[in-house]
Amino acid sequence: MAITRAALRPRPGILEIEPYVGGKAELAGLDRIAKLSANESALGPSERAIAAAAAALPELHRYPDGNATELRQAIGRRFDLDPARIVCGAGSDELIQLLTRAYAGPGDEVLYSAHGFLMYKLSALAAGAIPIAVPETGLKTDVEALLGAVTSRTRLVFLANPNNPTGSYLTIDELNALHAGLPDDVMLVIDAAYAEYVQRNDYESGRALVDAAANVVMTRTFSKLFALAALRLGWTYAPAHVVDVLNRIRGPFNVSRVAQVAGVAALEDEDHQARSRDHNATWLPWLAAEIGRLGPVVHPSVGNFLLIEFPTSPGRDAAAASAWLERHGIVARAMGAYGLPHCLRLSVGTEAENRQVVETLAGFVR
Ligand SMILES: Cc1ncc(COP(=O)(O)O)c(C=O)c1O
Repeated sequence: MAITRAALRPRPGILEIEPYVGGKAELAGLDRIAKLSANESALGPSERAIAAAAAALPELHRYPDGNATELRQAIGRRFDLDPARIVCGAGSDELIQLLTRAYAGPGDEVLYSAHGFLMYKLSALAAGAIPIAVPETGLKTDVEALLGAVTSRTRLVFLANPNNPTGSYLTIDELNALHAGLPDDVMLVIDAAYAEYVQRNDYESGRALVDAAANVVMTRTFSKLFALAALRLGWTYAPAHVVDVLNRIRGPFNVSRVAQVAGVAALEDEDHQARSRDHNATWLPWLAAEIGRLGPVVHPSVGNFLLIEFPTSPGRDAAAASAWLERHGIVARAMGAYGLPHCLRLSVGTEAENRQVVETLAGFVR
């Protein structure tokens, strides 16, 4: 009998999801590439995290601690937070999905800014909710526009701060204004995946708002500065009532033991964190200035990546630039899925990769 989809139907919204496509990791025919397509850490993980992960391997037959107790304590020590208000997840992606599933369903609206991180839309559709992309101004979240889009059906507002892929951020005052304008029954999720890189005194990760309000949650990740993307590890700092909800719906062992021990070791290796932050603080502005000198528009970024805008003329455009970079072993991220087809996003790489990027782009614009 032919297998058809007619009898079994997923919930409305699910077949509208275009599966998330991660940054390309390979180029045919090339052994060594500069993978600058996924905002990963340029320096890689802490040696201490690698050793901790390796030491956990003989115990792979044991289930992990379902409460990630030591990891939550280590996060609490590192960021001066109450471990009881932390929930860990398999990447912050999982936490985004859990929050959406817990607080939004069919007919509910989930808001985010037009060029915000893609997972918000995908999570909303997966929950059967209605994703609403709110226009930005100058590639930055427009607080007034976001607040203007809130209706009685709005349940969640997602804000990546700083935002991927634009690199822009809301200041403390802007963030407070956004929160102040939201009804109490709308949850503000501040996704601070890149918080550790930001060096601005008008920026705050969102923890102050979580402390002050019952409807604010902050998500964080170990995939960026802590360089453990492969292990899938993220966390959220939330009011106690949200912690309770997340603990009811998450998988009982959603964070592996290898991830938990590596996470603790990465948190404790503050020297490595400082090296990674310093590396980014040196090379992000260098790359922005050097690429900008070549002609493309480089949008200001406070993360570990740059959004680069190319002309629209054939042969000079983002697609041509991407093909040229790939021919020279460099993978950037195409931005069509983010509604920015004239742009490429590039992570800050090692010194050698950054120099290679600038040399290669110089060849392209010539
Ligand atoms: C803004 C933002 N949030 C969340 C994530 C997901 O991170 P994780 O690896 O913790 O799932 C990313 C990854 O690129 C991101 O850019």
